[in-house]
Amino acid sequence: MTENRVVLITGASSGFGRETARLLLARGFKVYGTSRNPSAKPQETGVGMIALDVDSDDSVRHGVKELFDETGRLDVLVNNAGYVLTGGAEETSIAEAKAQLDTDFFGPVRMAKAVLPAMRKQGSGQIINISSMAAFLPVPFEGYYAAAKAALLAWSEALRHEVKSLGIKISVIEPGFFRTNLGDARRVAEYPIRDYDHLRVRAVTALDDDFRNGADPKIVGETVLRIITSKNPKLEYAVGREGRYRRLKHLMPQSIIENGVRKHWKLDL
Ligand SMILES: NC(=O)c1ccc[n+]([C@@H]2O[C@H](COP(=O)([O-])OP(=O)(O)OC[C@H]3O[C@@H](n4cnc5c(N)ncnc54)[C@H](OP(=O)(O)O)[C@@H]3O)[C@@H](O)[C@H]2O)c1
Repeated sequence: MTENRVVLITGASSGFGRETARLLLARGFKVYGTSRNPSAKPQETGVGMIALDVDSDDSVRHGVKELFDETGRLDVLVNNAGYVLTGGAEETSIAEAKAQLDTDFFGPVRMAKAVLPAMRKQGSGQIINISSMAAFLPVPFEGYYAAAKAALLAWSEALRHEVKSLGIKISVIEPGFFRTNLGDARRVAEYPIRDYDHLRVRAVTALDDDFRNGADPKIVGETVLRIITSKNPKLEYAVGREGRYRRLKHLMPQSIIENGVRKHWKLDL
């Protein structure tokens, strides 16, 4: 089973989602993508765009129904939709923190719960969750984003065990920094605390530079393709220049990692 597989990618209107849709389409997959507002931007020709907000149970239910009404099956779900919230742990309100987890953790959960019944019935299927290197190397002033991505990683590992014998494969991609719209679309905690100003400004300025100088998002599309054409996909794929830190974090003393992180985010100037 190869080219005629049906793939659904959430957040296909820009960045990784768009690049992945473009690549899989060129490889002959039947590709569907989601956006909260598909008519807002010109979309990739040949990609079936579905209006879907991963924050909403109803929207997910309707969007997934629309897909199954048209295709009758789904072979691969790529849970990609997401955004970054910046703000210190103390500065961020509970409502802002919940909204971050609602999109970046419960979004993939909602989508998986909506498609798993059909995948179980098919006796086959694959879900790829886009987490982040922040799941294993949290970025200061992005703590709730890191928490959402770490939760996604842990949940994916549990789910992988639960559905393996039912013919369903689960993998997670952990990108480093890539040039997408993520930095520009970033949300900011509304009520900053002055004592953190100098630290937050330095860390967030470095973060914006990292996005601007990030790697080509095509790499993530190529990784998705590698995973869905692999016979035995792994759980985790750390990609991008920062991918090496996945292994280094386990090999190097904690103090060296911590000093490196503080230096990168300019926290000790
Ligand atoms: N770029 C990086 O360096 C990087 C690194 C690690 C992980 N990631 C992760 O990669 C994923 C894709 O991000 P990107 O970098 O490609 O950023 P992007 O260019 O901003 O794309 C984000 C996509 O998510 C969609 N989206 C956002 N909120 C949504 C919601 N509530 N419901 C449905 N769709 C929603 C957007 O679609 P609409 O606005 O059209 O709805 C858009 O298509 C995210 O999960 C992000 O956390 C990115």
